Amino acid sequence: MFKTGLFFDEISDNEFYLLRDVIFKESGINLTERKKALLHSRLIKRLKALNIDNYKVYYEYLNKNYHEEIINLINCITTNKTDFFRESKHFKFLREVILPKFEKRNPGKFRIWSAGCSTGEEPYSIAITIAEYFRNKRMPDVKILATDIDTDVLGKAVAGIYKEEDLEEVDPAILRIYFQKGKKENSGLFTVRESIKNMVSFGRLNLLSESYPMNGLFDIIFCRNVIIYFDKKTKDDVINKFYDYLTDDGYFFAGHSETLANSAGRYFLIGNTIYGKAVKCT
Ligand SMILES: C[S@@+](CC[C@H](N)C(=O)[O-])C[C@H]1O[C@@H](n2cnc3c(N)ncnc32)[C@H](O)[C@@H]1O
Repeated sequence: MFKTGLFFDEISDNEFYLLRDVIFKESGINLTERKKALLHSRLIKRLKALNIDNYKVYYEYLNKNYHEEIINLINCITTNKTDFFRESKHFKFLREVILPKFEKRNPGKFRIWSAGCSTGEEPYSIAITIAEYFRNKRMPDVKILATDIDTDVLGKAVAGIYKEEDLEEVDPAILRIYFQKGKKENSGLFTVRESIKNMVSFGRLNLLSESYPMNGLFDIIFCRNVIIYFDKKTKDDVINKFYDYLTDDGYFFAGHSETLANSAGRYFLIGNTIYGKAVKCT
């Protein structure tokens, strides 16, 4: 029976370690001792939904239904904070440096990966920046792959519907061109227009996977504010793996507090956590 009164004021150390280890093994998300309260607050809703009133029983449930439940557990624990045009210097660099350079390419074909795309603001901001740059020009062949481990955020990203307050920082002219304003029961909501949605494809991908199932290389990889949740080894492994998916003249965008300084010379810093690929001498 579901007990509301004495409901979970504690997660024992042992229960915390068990769940923490599963989360780390499956996602790379590294919960330190101080994150016990966070784990508890993130999991309460899930336990309530399952009508389970303690973590021991939840851990047993997880083990019995591992394949399905691990997805829910990871969905609960990820931090999905994002914004349109987050870290505006990155979009300025894309517009003023990368796109003029790529525009000279013939045939014009760009492949971009937003790894850890959360609810879609990042890949849509990239698509809008490109669409805006080529607005009165011939649009090249652009494909943006947007991936995340969390299936809940991917659902929101695919829908591409955002609240007005989430778009406060977006230039009103950009809003008018690239979003459809909701009417009546949808008032206060804005939907990304099909022309932008068509530039982006979404999929679930765990960055911890041994290898990634993509063919071909990317001209730009955005992996911003994702590796910050990993421990050092996982961080380095993931960063080194990205190297093999980047073109020789490709760019890597990291989050504002992330560094690729430990990449053993694979990347060089351009500025504002934007990196170029250092091509190995043969
Ligand atoms: C804070 S959000 C960053 C969103 C966006 N890149 C930005 O900077 O605004 C971090 C995202 O990384 C995802 N993530 C965490 N661990 C992951 C993993 N192992 N594989 C893929 N995505 C992961 C989370 O689900 C979350 O949506």
